Amino acid sequence: VSDMLVDSFGRRHTYLRISLTERCNLRCMYCMPAEGVELTPNPQLLSQNEIVRLANLFVSSGVDKIRLTGGEPTIRKDIEEICSQLSSLKGLKTLAITTNGITLARKLPKLKECGLSSVNISLDTLVPAKFEFMTRRKGHERVMESIHTAIDLGYNPVKVNCVVMRGFNDDEICDFVEMTRDKPINIRFIEFMPFDGNVWNVKKLVPYAEMLDRVVKQFTSLKRLQDHPTETAKNFTIDGHCGTVSFITSMTKNFCAGCNRLRLLADGNFKVCLFGPSEVSLRDPLRSGVDDHELGEIIGAAVKRKKASHAGMFDIAKTANRPMIHIGG
Ligand code: GTP
Ligand code: 5AD
Ligand code: SF4
Repeated sequence: VSDMLVDSFGRRHTYLRISLTERCNLRCMYCMPAEGVELTPNPQLLSQNEIVRLANLFVSSGVDKIRLTGGEPTIRKDIEEICSQLSSLKGLKTLAITTNGITLARKLPKLKECGLSSVNISLDTLVPAKFEFMTRRKGHERVMESIHTAIDLGYNPVKVNCVVMRGFNDDEICDFVEMTRDKPINIRFIEFMPFDGNVWNVKKLVPYAEMLDRVVKQFTSLKRLQDHPTETAKNFTIDGHCGTVSFITSMTKNFCAGCNRLRLLADGNFKVCLFGPSEVSLRDPLRSGVDDHELGEIIGAAVKRKKASHAGMFDIAKTANRPMIHIGG
């Protein structure tokens, strides 16, 4: 890993999350306000060539994993070409996507051919009516179909991201765990995090300890696996289950010490921490014609400014950031 990607705490950033669009075909309550968010005008969004140029610089500096996010990344018309170009970058080991699964079943076979190597699908409830309430749109059945398509195409595990919110879906935790009995699914329960416009409130957060307690009561053989130091998730197995269960504990037990993640937003801003409000534009210098060396200086300086950890949930909730839909998680 080149010095450009090492921060002042020695963390090596080998994982780049690229947001392909600010648009989405759902309106999830934990991600955006009901009225939607302001969209960056199209000419100010990164083009396919600009994305590939920047990704190439990151990969040649040591990034070996890229995740496509959004908004909803599959909405982007040129996603197949983007996947093909990114997956052929020398040094890239993993090309992943985080998607809401609404149109994935149809698109996944082609994306797989284009080199997409792993799939995370968001699903917060197993009850169609609740899905409509939490996402403010229909589509539960299509997401389920996408999960099954991903399994059938051989993605293993298929990670299912479930943001747990008290009073909304916290009664379904064990039902989700049940899905891992005979499917190669990694169900990941995520603590609800504050972002601009999502009306975060600590009462809606179900802490990791409480989720764990509920799962262990019903699935007594739950066993912690050894996690990789850069993992976002704490992973568990259950005897006799072919899938696994995980918890993403950003709020009550942050994993910042092992953070290896950087973010490129759809508008070309570069963000070194999900909760760090500071951003620097890579699009503007790129468009003014700077070379890779100069871009590298800008990236390196931003990485060196990265803080040891986020400021804690109550401070984060008070600090202006962006809506989640702009950041892509
Ligand atoms: P894998 O690469 O498969 O482990 O996925 P991931 O957890 O890196 O990415 P995904 O997009 O599936 O995100 C799952 C949850 O983890 C979302 O709620 C993200 O916001 C959260 N998450 C991802 N990266 C970070 C991070 O760097 N910091 C924090 N605090 N949360 C993160
Ligand atoms: N808190 C926790 N996770 C969130 N996600 C979106 N908004 C939030 C939030 N406020 C999740 C999505 C998706 C991933 C990128 O981030 O469900 O799976
Ligand atoms: Fe990394 Fe920031 Fe997330 Fe902590 S909050 S894990 S430092 S991106």
